[in-house]
Amino acid sequence: MQPDSPYCTKASDIIWQQDTPSSVEFDDSYWSQGDPSEEKQWVFPGQHQLPSRAQQADLIVLLELGFGFGHNFLQTIALWEQSNSTAQLHYIAIERSPPTLAALKRVHALTKTAASKRLLEIYPAGLAAWHVVWFTDQIRLTLIFEDAQTALPRLDAKVDVFYLDGFKPSQNPELFNQFIFEGMRRLAQPGASASTYSVAGVVKQGLRAAGFRIEKRQGWGRKRELLFAEAPGDWRGQRLRRPSVQIIGAGIAGQSLAGSLNRFDIQPIILADPNHPGASSQPALNIYPQLSLQRDRLSEFSIAGCYFALHNQEGVQRRPLRWRSATPAKIQRMQRLSQLFPDDYLEQIDNEVTYHQAGIWQSLSPAGLQDAKVCELRPSKGQMRLYDAAGHALSQADVTLLAAGTGMHTLTSLALKNVRGQSIRIQSKHALPEFLTGDINITHLDGHDFLVGSTYELGSNDSQTRLLDTDRLMSDLAQTLQHRDFTLTSAHAGIRTTFSDRVIGAGLLPTDALTTAIMDQGVGQHLEPMPACYALMGLGSHGATHAPLAAEAIVSAFCGAPSPLPRDLAHLIRLDRF
Ligand SMILES: Cc1cc2nc3c(=O)[nH]c(=O)nc-3n(C[C@H](O)[C@H](O)[C@H](O)COP(=O)(O)OP(=O)(O)OC[C@H]3O[C@@H](n4cnc5c(N)ncnc54)[C@H](O)[C@@H]3O)c2cc1C
Ligand SMILES: C[S@@+](CC[C@H](N)C(=O)[O-])C[C@H]1O[C@@H](n2cnc3c(N)ncnc32)[C@H](O)[C@@H]1O
Repeated sequence: MQPDSPYCTKASDIIWQQDTPSSVEFDDSYWSQGDPSEEKQWVFPGQHQLPSRAQQADLIVLLELGFGFGHNFLQTIALWEQSNSTAQLHYIAIERSPPTLAALKRVHALTKTAASKRLLEIYPAGLAAWHVVWFTDQIRLTLIFEDAQTALPRLDAKVDVFYLDGFKPSQNPELFNQFIFEGMRRLAQPGASASTYSVAGVVKQGLRAAGFRIEKRQGWGRKRELLFAEAPGDWRGQRLRRPSVQIIGAGIAGQSLAGSLNRFDIQPIILADPNHPGASSQPALNIYPQLSLQRDRLSEFSIAGCYFALHNQEGVQRRPLRWRSATPAKIQRMQRLSQLFPDDYLEQIDNEVTYHQAGIWQSLSPAGLQDAKVCELRPSKGQMRLYDAAGHALSQADVTLLAAGTGMHTLTSLALKNVRGQSIRIQSKHALPEFLTGDINITHLDGHDFLVGSTYELGSNDSQTRLLDTDRLMSDLAQTLQHRDFTLTSAHAGIRTTFSDRVIGAGLLPTDALTTAIMDQGVGQHLEPMPACYALMGLGSHGATHAPLAAEAIVSAFCGAPSPLPRDLAHLIRLDRF
């Protein structure tokens, strides 16, 4: 791995005094010598009346600057669990130099609680990205591995509680400065609280200048005082909006939306056309990030999407995927790419590269699914009512989510291109090598059952399987394996859809893009305002990697939860970009 890769975080150089880590760069220890739990509990969760606030809110949004080894996080969730609250905790933590997994293991080997074990399991070591995971049913953790100075302006959240836990301010001016304090103020709810162990002048004056009221409180151990701060205004618990929701489409887009809604305790109605099962009915879809040699927004979105899909989406099996090729130019590109990533993410051995953070997704039948083709949408008393071709009402809800794959061509006017594809399912008595290439993918499904794909045909709308494509895939496979000791069991065709810029589309649907919405109620009647409609579409060849995170962003937006995406990535995929 190149030391200055834009994809990687720079792990801190740590020296250990027994089991207490100190940063060489900042010449400071992560906590006072010994067990950090009481100190962290006192200075951070202990100052904010979290259990009683949790009783007055549907969600509490907490932002920690300096995640380090996650002690504050673990202390907070222990307190949360004791509080028996039904509220959600959205814990957002920013960390520029995350410790390595080995260092984290060394520290948490001592605690061995269920929560510390889970932290080790989900810890996304080494990648400079936003990693979002539902840590428990009630707690969503957003780990932002980025410098706070660039991360804060990208955050879209209303924060109730801040933990300011950098190293000592004299050594760590990047975390204790006016830009950071102003950034906190911008994100703060009225009455939001902040605490930090330091009462240094720069912190007191800086927080005050940013508009916080400050107060010194009793500190922990040898530190006599700590600093507590409050944003102006009376604090009121945030409420989640839980509207009724209907989804059109039950592919990976529809299922991802349903999964996110369920996590926010919303049970949607899902309508899907039984005669057009869609591209997601392929026997399996591979999940792996779409990466480029220059770090760009699409790669950043794809890394974040892959992490979210692997850790949150139902129907996913996590397993490494190998990539190989015989084409020198492709091998060279992959070799250069793998040098930009940690080996436990992308590892090259000779002509083969392993995606360690990868997996497959297989379609499920979500709760609330009904067979129906939606042909028309009509506003009715603030809700959208859906109709079939015969004009029968199918359902109605406050919010409508369109996730109809190729069906979006008729439901909306947004210009999508079709890319037809076909795969085959084969039986092989021998274990086959499993891998991806630019040309042929072999995925193990079960026992002797393998999936081999895929073809690409731009512009075609034909979702029937074709003998010609089956023969081509069979002969490509025979050529790759150098034998024909396998038998065909089935073939599967589907249509991918993609926008011209090859970026997915997710978000509020522009009013004029909904061609099937009948707005005019006839002469003499009022025009109804358009009820909220969102869409998730144009997923291209990476629907299983990208749909779950995009769905979480859509649902978070209308429920009133923090965005799991940085502002610029939400902007990248928005639907009014055309
Ligand atoms: C051969 C092949 C291999 C692929 N391999 C991969 C892979 O390895 N990894 C990967 O991530 N992606 C892969 N893809 C792409 C992937 O399949 C798509 O990105 C994804 O399935 C699109 O999901 P979707 O939910 O948007 O649409 P679809 O899966 O097409 O689902 C559309 C849904 O909308 C419903 N619908 C449509 N119109 C209406 C209507 N009017 N009323 C009601 N319901 C309606 C349909 O019934 C269906 O339920 C592959 C595609 C193909 C064809
Ligand atoms: C005292 S430690 C935090 C300990 C941590 N809260 C815990 O519970 O284990 C300070 C942390 O701030 C991080 N940090 C310092 N400067 C930063 C910056 N500019 N942006 C983000 N994180 C920063 C350091 O890398 C370090 O992990």
